[in-house]
Amino acid sequence: MTSLRPTRADRFSFGLWTVGWQARDPFGDGTRPAIDPVETVHRLAELGAYGVTFHDDDLIPFGSDEAARQHHVKRFRAALEETGLVVPMATTNLFFHPVFKDGALTSNDRSIRRYALRKVMRNLDLAAEFGASTYVFWGGREGSEVDAAKDVRSALDRYREGLDTLAQYVIDRGYGLRFALEPKPNEPRGDILLPTIGHALAFISTLEHSEMVGLNPEVGHEQMSNLNFVHGISQALWQGKLFHIDLNGQHGPKFDQDLVFGHGDLISAFGLVDLLEHGGPGGGPAYDGPRHFDYKPLRTEDLDDVWRSAAANMRTYLLLKERAAAFRADPEVLEALVAARVPELAVPTLADGETYADLLADRSAFEDFDADAAAVEGCHFGRVDQLAIEHLMGAR
Ligand code: GCO
Ligand code: MN
Ligand code: MN
Repeated sequence: MTSLRPTRADRFSFGLWTVGWQARDPFGDGTRPAIDPVETVHRLAELGAYGVTFHDDDLIPFGSDEAARQHHVKRFRAALEETGLVVPMATTNLFFHPVFKDGALTSNDRSIRRYALRKVMRNLDLAAEFGASTYVFWGGREGSEVDAAKDVRSALDRYREGLDTLAQYVIDRGYGLRFALEPKPNEPRGDILLPTIGHALAFISTLEHSEMVGLNPEVGHEQMSNLNFVHGISQALWQGKLFHIDLNGQHGPKFDQDLVFGHGDLISAFGLVDLLEHGGPGGGPAYDGPRHFDYKPLRTEDLDDVWRSAAANMRTYLLLKERAAAFRADPEVLEALVAARVPELAVPTLADGETYADLLADRSAFEDFDADAAAVEGCHFGRVDQLAIEHLMGAR
């Protein structure tokens, strides 16, 4: 049985902006006070997290002078040293300041694009200083509301130009950072560029340093598009592009809820944890990066609830991990998977060395193949589903 107490080995991490969200929304003011990043580091360490992540402006308020900047960085570094927490990932805030109202790397205004590049470069220096290995790009403002006012092909050219330039900067400085693009379909823009995992994967293949660019998919963002997150993550893994992950919860296509992990589509969350923990070679983990929670504590909650909700993300993950382990160890599940021919899909369709000419010569494959007879037997997938749900519910 898995322990339900998070440890550093679980690699749980949180953004400063998650627990630190003051719950200001388009309809109402904040309901909670700001939290000092130093306190966040200590609280997360006590709860068993191993990492903390940040946007430049979460740590150093926008517009700080050099002295203030050094002060914030120094206090944060001291908190990391005291607690042993690490910074696995960092990112840039390219969405809050009004200057980014039409985007950053893809703003129609060239001077804003140049400013955005400099803002990223400055924070890449800091990310490297803190030993981060992943740098996330969430293009929340890269998009449009008015089709005729955004030349999407030019915007993609500029997106590519920006990322190519920044990748070259990282290479030249020897920072060893990898980039992870975070797709989202909409919100805050009416339509955001690179809206899904699939769009982002296709875009990455066009980049000059595509080998150092992967994905940071977020549960809720794919589900906002009514897409299957487990399938999306499977393809990202298949293409070697799952560099980071944002775990949270979402109830289908609506505004971005950023709920606690599992507090949305729980069956999908079970499938996701099963994939991450058991989808690798020999049934081991398919992903060894940080389990990063990008959620927002409910607006209705107070500060104590904030830390409870942080703990809830990790506990839910560990519960699902335990349930997935039980599912994988159940002999009846193994039998059901075989009956559903799941392992057979791993067998190549052509035999070793077989060519299409051999296939053409194989009468049993076509001329003598009885399609009607082969269609009679059911696939028995429902039994697999029921077993998964029973394990998820703790009924087995
Ligand atoms: C959102 C996004 C952000 C990003 C973060 C990192 O929908 O609000 O998920 O939380 O992940 O800005 O770049
Ligand atoms: Mn989100
Ligand atoms: Mn996110």
